[in-house]
Amino acid sequence: MNKIIHGNAIEILKDMERESVDLVVTDPPYLVNYRDREGRGVANDTNADGVLPAFAELYRVLKDNSLCISFAGWTALDGFTNAWTQAGFKIVGHIVWTKDYASSKGQTAYHHESAYVLAKGWPRKPLKPLADVQEWVYSGNKYHPTEKSVENIGALVRAFSKQGDIVLDPFLGSGTTAVASALNGRDYIGIELEQKYCALAERRLQGVSRYLATKNQAKAA
Ligand SMILES: C[S@@+](CC[C@H](N)C(=O)[O-])C[C@H]1O[C@@H](n2cnc3c(N)ncnc32)[C@H](O)[C@@H]1O
Repeated sequence: MNKIIHGNAIEILKDMERESVDLVVTDPPYLVNYRDREGRGVANDTNADGVLPAFAELYRVLKDNSLCISFAGWTALDGFTNAWTQAGFKIVGHIVWTKDYASSKGQTAYHHESAYVLAKGWPRKPLKPLADVQEWVYSGNKYHPTEKSVENIGALVRAFSKQGDIVLDPFLGSGTTAVASALNGRDYIGIELEQKYCALAERRLQGVSRYLATKNQAKAA
């Protein structure tokens, strides 16, 4: 708990206890061979076998009646939906973030990101559900080429878990889900293939610990 694990999520998840996690929030490679302007890419972004088998393991480690929130783009959606449903998940929601800039252009200008709400069993419905259209907060991609903002991930963590819950992200990147979880009083487990992102995530989490310690001292004074 409260650990960043360096390695292949598909292997590492196999060693995790079944039904031990309250919520998964994850942003896997979209399987689109993405390159940013600086030429930075994402590991396994052309290798579905390095990504999709993780969902069967995620289903196993999630507690019954719990949710997995997974980002995914429309271009490789058939592969993702097959992996999700074959793992046992039901698709119970779709969240769209609207961007005021186009991240790419094809037949349309791409002004959104999306994530899918996947259920294991029958999670209780919230009294005040999160709106499924959200405003995109640009992260600046300082730490990672496809970095999500702490604001956007924090909203998911707050909506779909409670204080003290364990939030897992098996495709952690620079650590955004772990940072958002720690800031919101949740425990986290993060798994990431690339050592440099594990190191970045650790550094960001040290910053969070310092911030929370200062905040608690100020509260106590
Ligand atoms: C889309 S990025 C996540 C970015 C993250 N949301 C952030 O804010 O920094 C996906 C990450 O999954 C990692 N990855 C790809 N295949 C993996 C695997 N099999 N196990 C663990 N991590 C993997 C990549 O190295 C990449 O950093």
